[in-house]
Amino acid sequence: MSGHKILVMNGPNLSRLGKREPEIYGRTTLEEVNEGLEKAFPEVAFGFFQSEHEGELIDRLFEAEDHGGWSGVVLNAGALTHYSIALRDAISAVKLPVVEVHLSNIYAREEFRRKSVISEVCAGVIGGFGVQSYHLGVRGLQGLMGKKKA
Ligand code: DQA
Repeated sequence: MSGHKILVMNGPNLSRLGKREPEIYGRTTLEEVNEGLEKAFPEVAFGFFQSEHEGELIDRLFEAEDHGGWSGVVLNAGALTHYSIALRDAISAVKLPVVEVHLSNIYAREEFRRKSVISEVCAGVIGGFGVQSYHLGVRGLQGLMGKKKA
């Protein structure tokens, strides 16, 4: 599996990884998460994007669909996961496979986190494995490549 371009997108508050509620999200910063992916998957050409803003994530997703030859997206949408119909519709609108990932197990936390509005339009869902969730998301995407492409 070589030559693939995978875009790793992170939503609101994930810029604070490492300092934000480390008992839930760990002490690894987002930069370290991204570096870890590059190290673990040298055959993949990664792009990284984080935003606190719903619309910017949607813009980036459409940009990735239209330009750059991306093969798929690993997305931690943060809290938008639970309520952003706009993000859900954007994922549904693109042909790029999107894998939903979460550091924490959203089903083992507060009631409001148990609902993801994006899962049904994602290629797969991974959560609860900390930083490894991103790695598993990349693995999942690699397995899918060739099956759901533009
Ligand atoms: C999260 C879980 C969400 O419920 C939360 O709002 C986040 C992070 C996770 O990675 O576990 O910001 O997506």
